[in-house]
Amino acid sequence: MTVRSFLRGIGHALPERVVENAEFEATLDTNDAWIRSRTGIERRHFAAEGETTSDLGARAAKAALDDAGVMADEVDAIIVATSTADLTFPSAATMVQEKLGMTRGFAFDVQAVCAGFAFAMTNADALIRSGQAQRILVIGAETFSRLMDWTDRSTCVLFGDGAGAVLLEARDAAGTPQDRGVLAAEINSDGRFKDILYVDGGVSLQTTGHLRMQGKEVFRHAVEKLAGTARATLAKAGLQPNDIDWIVPHQANLRILKATAERLHVPMEKVVITVQDHGNTSAASIPLALSVARADGRIKDGDVVVTGAIGGGLAWGSVVFRM
Ligand code: UT7
Repeated sequence: MTVRSFLRGIGHALPERVVENAEFEATLDTNDAWIRSRTGIERRHFAAEGETTSDLGARAAKAALDDAGVMADEVDAIIVATSTADLTFPSAATMVQEKLGMTRGFAFDVQAVCAGFAFAMTNADALIRSGQAQRILVIGAETFSRLMDWTDRSTCVLFGDGAGAVLLEARDAAGTPQDRGVLAAEINSDGRFKDILYVDGGVSLQTTGHLRMQGKEVFRHAVEKLAGTARATLAKAGLQPNDIDWIVPHQANLRILKATAERLHVPMEKVVITVQDHGNTSAASIPLALSVARADGRIKDGDVVVTGAIGGGLAWGSVVFRM
């Protein structure tokens, strides 16, 4: 017997404002055809003035709690994966806690940029299996529109805002790959690559700063590392690539998704793709895609799901679970 982190509820939240690729044509030397063909992105959501990461995170969390039929005061912990917290401190997680009306438990943020959801899930799973918490809300929430340099066409067309949330719950299980819940997780980072994707501001510089990226370099690492971490996590779970029902990858670029699936010998029909509608929402992209594919009936109970993400740091990782 063992304890597994069962995915009891899933939800998401998107800002109301939708921005189509064509909108950028008025201010930048870019066009819909370039953005679509090089990234797969067609539109993205941008937060309204005053709408914050914790607002989106709290809405996604409420949706996950409703999906689970669980009340906020029955949750022991909140982990928010974000690089765009409302304030330098306190954490976005404590703000979500307050917005949910939770007066017990603990809440903290995890900052691993686009890989944040994999890092947050790994931490939550460890807390559950060690008995520290029975139910944890794991949230990916971002407002990357606030980090954009609107004059830089190579980055500002890529990102969007949103949030997704998963309610994990401790369940007794047999300890086999047939169990439902998180089966394995794997996280990595390599600070030698910190300069290929970063924000040129922060508390030490007394500015918020803007996102800077060497796109081609990040692309190269993404294709190589995403397939590697997925394979390693599957092996830890006692599974093979042909056991995969769904890949729910970080949504940065459709070409990265295709290359990763190809390396794993998994057909694109098994890859959940939302990048066309959301752009790259950093730590929010995996739980957002998971929520969309669960709600539309694609991901069913018992399905084996592999998630994987890479982002600034570089940081990357993967989580394998059975729904
Ligand atoms: O979430 C974190 C992980 N992030 C990623 O995984 C992103 C990884 N990188 C990428 O997705 C791609 O590298 C990009 C989409 C960012 C760029 O695509 P690319 O095919 O690598 O293009 P490039 O950077 O090599 O640029 C090719 C050309 C350049 O023009 P020149 O120098 O050949 O004249 C760029 O200036 O495309 C130009 N370009 C654009 N043209 C029209 C760059 N951005 C745009 C744009 N519209 N928005």
